[in-house]
Amino acid sequence: MVSRYVIAIDQGTTSTRCIVFDQRGSLVSVAQREHRQLYPRPGWVEHDAVEIWRNVRRIVPRAVAEAGIDASQVVGIGIANQRETSVLWDRRTGEPVGQALVWQDTRADGVVEELAAHADAKDVETRCGLPLATYFSAPKLRWQLAHVPGLRERAERGEILFGTMETWLIWNLTGGPRGGVHVTDVTNASRTMLMDLRTLQWSPEQLEFFDIPAGILPEIRSSAEVYGVCSTVLPGVAITAALGDQQAALFGQVCFAPGDAKCTYGTGSFLLLNTGAEVVQSTHGLLSTVGYQIAGEPATYALEGSIAITGSLVQWFRDSLGLISTAPEIETLARTVEDNGGCYIVPAFSGLFAPYWRSEARGVIVGLTSYITKGHLARAVLEATGWQTREVVDAMNADSGLDLRTLRVDGGMTSDNLLMQFLADVLDVPVVRPMVAETVSLGAAYAAGLAVGYWADLAALRQNWHRAAQWIPAMAADRRAEEYDNWQRAVERTFGWIKP
Ligand code: G3P
Repeated sequence: MVSRYVIAIDQGTTSTRCIVFDQRGSLVSVAQREHRQLYPRPGWVEHDAVEIWRNVRRIVPRAVAEAGIDASQVVGIGIANQRETSVLWDRRTGEPVGQALVWQDTRADGVVEELAAHADAKDVETRCGLPLATYFSAPKLRWQLAHVPGLRERAERGEILFGTMETWLIWNLTGGPRGGVHVTDVTNASRTMLMDLRTLQWSPEQLEFFDIPAGILPEIRSSAEVYGVCSTVLPGVAITAALGDQQAALFGQVCFAPGDAKCTYGTGSFLLLNTGAEVVQSTHGLLSTVGYQIAGEPATYALEGSIAITGSLVQWFRDSLGLISTAPEIETLARTVEDNGGCYIVPAFSGLFAPYWRSEARGVIVGLTSYITKGHLARAVLEATGWQTREVVDAMNADSGLDLRTLRVDGGMTSDNLLMQFLADVLDVPVVRPMVAETVSLGAAYAAGLAVGYWADLAALRQNWHRAAQWIPAMAADRRAEEYDNWQRAVERTFGWIKP
């Protein structure tokens, strides 16, 4: 019998990956390409959508060739993507309007400030489950429509399409200007601020509030269904799933029951808690979002604690400060000292996300004395990830009324043992990592396979989850409390740095 496989494309913030999985959920082959990060001004972060599409065209055939299979053995493609990043393009030529505005981009802070003063602002936040912040797509879109000459007129004439990255890729894969399918899934739509979280449809009130022409928006579909068939790259293969990358990781970690939670440590870090069929409205600075929706079933919702800067702080330490030459070296450098020497780094590079949502905050390093070495700074970089996670776990516990008992982790930073131990110490709960660390891709593959019956049901997927490593808390309670207090005092120093 011919073996069959499922393919995941993970279009992330720094790179795009294609992974071929088999039915046991094991990784068969992987191909990856990085794309450029464009920083034209302080606070602006852009990607070239054409470069990303070109990377997809290269890596998918490479992963398939490395797996030694052909397209006829692929049951479906699942896409996971960096969320909120917005691209606009000409529906006739397929040419993007400028660059894609990345989720970290803060250029729309003026838009946010102006809209926050509006009488309807609270209702708008409740309807979409998100606070008004530059992070999400709608403020970016409004900024573009106001600042790109002629764009609003073209959009109103029906010449322009909008999408997050999965929409852009699906449209191109299925034919582009020659009949590409213009769709998004509920998880990605839930990050735009334009979708009503309860009806799972674009909301006329939200569109009016942000002044966005409805004609540019894709159709909202479930996360696991056939959207269309590739006309290029792997012609004839169906695209059968799409999820925002963090929701894909929730799925890949098989967090299918209310109360299940995971945190993915990438460029930023994102802790998601499955809240079941009900939307839980946060009162502690978390987001309400869609976790996933399988075609024909109700949506599963999640609470999310989004941390903007974690892995990218290590990158900054490597590339901008040059204190290490590869990211894993940070652990070695941090182990040259006993502790942080009293030094804390709060990486509010794009303001602070959960639980603060302060766009005007900017990063600080506090506690500097002549005693501090680069080893202490390395520790402070890693510890920033631990403390930021602690803050969102505290918010999660307060919102859900339940105490998190164990944290499932995944993503690149989880190979850092010092950080994982610190995380268990500051959360005071065990931290566990599964065998397949590529949970974003795995989740997209799972959803893609479920949509076409490659896997029978969620129970079949649960059986694939196996623990690879566990870290048990070992920090004394009084030290934890004292260090946390220091961290929170450091956070306060970031507030209000950008003047209104
Ligand atoms: O919300 C942004 C998030 O989806 C980005 O994830 O892993 O691409 O940095 P990542």
